[in-house]
Amino acid sequence: MRKNIYKSTNIKHLTNIKPIFDDNLPKLYIETYGCQMNVNDSEVVVSIMQDAGFSVTEDIEKADIILINTCSIRDNAEQRVWGRLDVFKQQKKKNKGLRIGVIGCMAERLKEQLLENQIVDIVVGPDAYRQLPELLQTVENGQKGINVLLSHEETYSDISPVRLDKNGVSAYVSIMRGCNNVCAFCVVPYTRGAERSRNPETIVREVKELVDNGYKEVTLLGQNVDSYVWVDPGNVTKTVNFAQLLEMVALVDAKMRVRFSTSHPKDMSNGVLYTMAMYNNICNYIHLPVQSGSTDILARMNRKYTREQYLERVQKIREIIHGCAISTDIIAGFCGETDEDHQLTLSLMREVGYDYAYMFKYSERPNTKAARHYTDDISEELKTQRLTEIIDLQNKLSEESNEKDIGKVFEILVEGVSKRSDDFLHGRNQQNKVVVFLKNNYKTGDYVMVKITGCSSATLKGEPIE
Ligand code: SAH
Ligand code: SF4
Ligand code: F3S
Repeated sequence: MRKNIYKSTNIKHLTNIKPIFDDNLPKLYIETYGCQMNVNDSEVVVSIMQDAGFSVTEDIEKADIILINTCSIRDNAEQRVWGRLDVFKQQKKKNKGLRIGVIGCMAERLKEQLLENQIVDIVVGPDAYRQLPELLQTVENGQKGINVLLSHEETYSDISPVRLDKNGVSAYVSIMRGCNNVCAFCVVPYTRGAERSRNPETIVREVKELVDNGYKEVTLLGQNVDSYVWVDPGNVTKTVNFAQLLEMVALVDAKMRVRFSTSHPKDMSNGVLYTMAMYNNICNYIHLPVQSGSTDILARMNRKYTREQYLERVQKIREIIHGCAISTDIIAGFCGETDEDHQLTLSLMREVGYDYAYMFKYSERPNTKAARHYTDDISEELKTQRLTEIIDLQNKLSEESNEKDIGKVFEILVEGVSKRSDDFLHGRNQQNKVVVFLKNNYKTGDYVMVKITGCSSATLKGEPIE
């Protein structure tokens, strides 16, 4: 096994944003797990691989190389990947020349350990994707390849991701990488390294490219978008913060919707809220993960805000942005969580009245602050019970939120034909809610004014109006 030394390949602007399907070229099959950043990273990887002469296939049987872009956030995310590797093993039995690479957060966390699995040929961390073609060459020379070095500079800012979405309407744009927070439960700072912001000019260039290719919605991605800051290397007094970046992106095209994720309650500034209120095309939607409603637990999680400070941020959102939807992330059963702490989470959920939430059982991750300093002392049974209560409450809150929308008119960006019936289209309003309505003559990518006539806890139903 040879360890490669990280070196940035020649900076050249890769601009093809379309996948190449060509049976005469070696074919890459890529599978992605984890967050939106990983989805976008896979698109960067495809760009690099296409530049190196590969084409893309969606049929695993035809693959010459399989890359699996992995997530380490919870144990079950990793278990899923191990399960897939077993499936790929069968594939390799059928095709001896097949190469298999593990990339992303699990590659970074487990490093050489992954190469102990005989079917894995290369292991590449999130900051080393430029090296993929070279590492594959190493494999052709009969060795395994690994590069898991993290970088303080890499943002892939010169690479236009090859868009793998199916609808051609919405796209992700990474504005930063890594994370400098040390939330006690979280593995991300270890798998993604230190925070760094991307040159805003390259972000605007990418958004323009998307406009030119007919895209109608961008989501700006970062683990903590509010700490985005670009310092001009030529003039360190010239900086761009997230509110300013948001404005630059909103100004690219008034018909391009702008979303972003994730906001951190400790850093979300009023400046961002005012910018959102000022531009119609910045969506009235904020994902503001709370994790817990108990100040004690928040302190132990090292989240750096209290319940009261969080609620103050929510109040400011309501004050500055009319009709802004708020969603959140919640962890049930963090170390030392008492029943009282759990009740505080439920009461905070009611107080905010979240429109939507992603809810998880605490999963201890090796080497995190929580794993080193606290005991994972809530039984699996109690975690499940608390999570169920949280989910039941959120279902009720989502339903209430949807019922309030009945009778309202929203501008919907159409994303495609409804899965249930060809006569219906689905799209989302600014608040990120899915709306289903009669197709008429509308098509994917259209903006349609829709009056809401009914709902379930998951979707709104409506009728288009002229
Ligand atoms: N950067 C984002 C979160 C990224 S991870 C933020 O700070 O909000 C997405 C979500 O996964 C987190 O918000 C958290 O709710 C959940 N999560 C992270 N680590 C976890 C763990 N060890 N167990 C359970 N859930 C976890
Ligand atoms: Fe993890 Fe916290 Fe960073 Fe989010 S802000 S990625 S939860 S360490
Ligand atoms: Fe994302 Fe999972 Fe990594 S949530 S940053 S892919 S650990």
